[in-house]
Amino acid sequence: MKNSKEINPRDGNTESPWQSVISSVSDATRVIAETDAFEVIIIGAGITGLTTALLLQKAGKKCLVLEAGKAGFGTTGGTSAHLNTFFDATYPEIESDFGLHAAKEVADSGKEAMSIIASLVKEYEIDCDLEYKDGYLFSENKKETGQLREILEASRRAGIAVTEAENNDLPVPFDMAIRFSHQGQFHPLKYVNGLIAAFQELGGTVLEDCFVTEHKEVDNSLEVVAGGRSFYAEQLVYATHMPPGITAFSFRCAPYRSYVLGLRLKDKSGNYPTGLVYDMQEPYHYFRTHVVDGEPLLIVGGEDHKTGHDDPEQAFANLEKYARQYYQIESVEYRWSSQYYIPVDGLPYIGRLAASKRNIYIATGFNGNGMMFGTISGKVISDQILGVENRYGDLYAPSRLKPVAGFSEFVKENADVAWHFVADRFGAEDMDKFSELKKGEGKIVEFKGEQLAVYKDQQGKVTALSPVCTHAGCFVNFNAAEQSWDCPCHGGRFDTSGKVICGPPRKDLRWVDL
Ligand code: FES
Repeated sequence: MKNSKEINPRDGNTESPWQSVISSVSDATRVIAETDAFEVIIIGAGITGLTTALLLQKAGKKCLVLEAGKAGFGTTGGTSAHLNTFFDATYPEIESDFGLHAAKEVADSGKEAMSIIASLVKEYEIDCDLEYKDGYLFSENKKETGQLREILEASRRAGIAVTEAENNDLPVPFDMAIRFSHQGQFHPLKYVNGLIAAFQELGGTVLEDCFVTEHKEVDNSLEVVAGGRSFYAEQLVYATHMPPGITAFSFRCAPYRSYVLGLRLKDKSGNYPTGLVYDMQEPYHYFRTHVVDGEPLLIVGGEDHKTGHDDPEQAFANLEKYARQYYQIESVEYRWSSQYYIPVDGLPYIGRLAASKRNIYIATGFNGNGMMFGTISGKVISDQILGVENRYGDLYAPSRLKPVAGFSEFVKENADVAWHFVADRFGAEDMDKFSELKKGEGKIVEFKGEQLAVYKDQQGKVTALSPVCTHAGCFVNFNAAEQSWDCPCHGGRFDTSGKVICGPPRKDLRWVDL
C-alpha cells in the first residue's frame, strides 16, 4: 500500500491513486464577502457539482460551491474513471423498459458527455491524462454470449459504434468479445482541479470543509446553512448523490460499494491491457491501465455489493485472488472502495425536484457510470437553470413515472430495507468488557442492556455510539476496510467518531458516554 505524505482526503480509509493530487481550491475563495448572496448554490465538489458550477458561471451566473470535505472527497476521488458510451444498464434493458427512442437518447447523452469533457479539457487546457481507447466486453459461457449478442445488436440500434472483436485485450479466456470504439479514461482529480481553476478564474467561489446542515425555502429564494453561516441563492443543486432527508430517492436508489486494486505487474514489458475491459460476471470485473508515478498501473475493479451487506475485506481478497489467476503481480500498490447508487429502473435521476418550489435540483442514481452521468447532469441542470431546453430533461426527470420499469427491483430493495430495519435490532452480541475488541475493530454489541456501536482505535481507546442511523433509523454496520459505520438501508456513512461522511443523513451518530 502507498503511504503518501499528503493526500487529498476521501470518504474512507483506503487510498486511491488519484489522491496524491491535492484540491486546487485557492485560499482566496475560502473567505467570502459579507453579502453571501448568490444566484446558484451547488452542494458537492465532485464532477457533477463542478461541471454544473462551471457551465453556469460561464453563462454569467454567480455561483457558490459548498463542499463538506475537499473537492473530490466523495465518489469522484474513488472512481476508477472510465469514460463509456455504454452503461451498467445495458441497451437491451433500456430499450425493453423505455423504448428504442429512449435508448438512442441515452446513447446520445453518453456521446455528449464525452464531448463536453473533451471540449472543457481543450478550452481550459486541463492536463488530466485524458486518453481515448477501445472498450471490450466479453462473455465466458453460452448464456453470457446470448446476452452479449443482444447487447451488440441493441447498442447498434441505439447508435453506438460497436463491432464483434477477435480478442478481449486480456489474458482471460473468453467465448465472445465485442469492441466499442472511442471510449476514454482520465485522472479524475486532475480533471476536477481543472474545473475548479476555470470556475474560480470566471469568478466562482468554492468553500471546502463546509458541511450543509439545512436549507430553507423562503419565498422565491433559499437559505442554505453551512459551517454555522447562512448563504442565500435563487437556485440550489444537490450534487451529493442522495439529497438529504427521507425522500422518494431513498426508496428508488440502492447504495452499492465497488472495490478496486491498483497493481504493478512483474511483466513490465506489456502485459497491461491497452483498452477498457469488462467481463459479464455477476458482480462483474473491469480492467484498465493508467500510468501513475511514471509506471503503468493495472486497475482491476469489481466484487460490488450492497453497502453494509457483505464483508469489504473479503471483497478485496476475492478481487486480488481473481486478478492473480491471470496476472503475475509484483505488488498491490493501491486498494480502495467507493460508493454509487443503482436506480431501480436503471436510469439516473437528473433535474428539478418536483416537490420543491421549482428551484431545487438533484442528480443521483448514476449506477457505476458517474463520470459520464455526472457530466451530463452538469449540462442538463445548467440548461434548466438557464431556461434552455435540454433534450434529455424528460428522459432523466426525477419526477418520471415508469411503473413497470424497475418495479420488481423497487419492491426487492425496499423489502431489504424493511428487513434490515427490523432484523438488525436483534442478535447483537453481549459484551461486558471491551478488552475483547481488537484494535481497529468495530462491532454492534449489547452492553449493560443497551445496543451500541463500539470501536477501538489503534491506541486502544474505545468509542461508543448509538448504532441508530440518524436518517431513518436503521442500524449501521462496521466497514473494517474503510474504518466507517455504513448504513445498509440508504447508504449513509459515518466515521469512527460518528461524524457524517456520506449522506443522506445530516446528523452525526449519537455519542454514548461509557
Ligand atoms: Fe437511511 Fe441510514 S441511510 S436509515
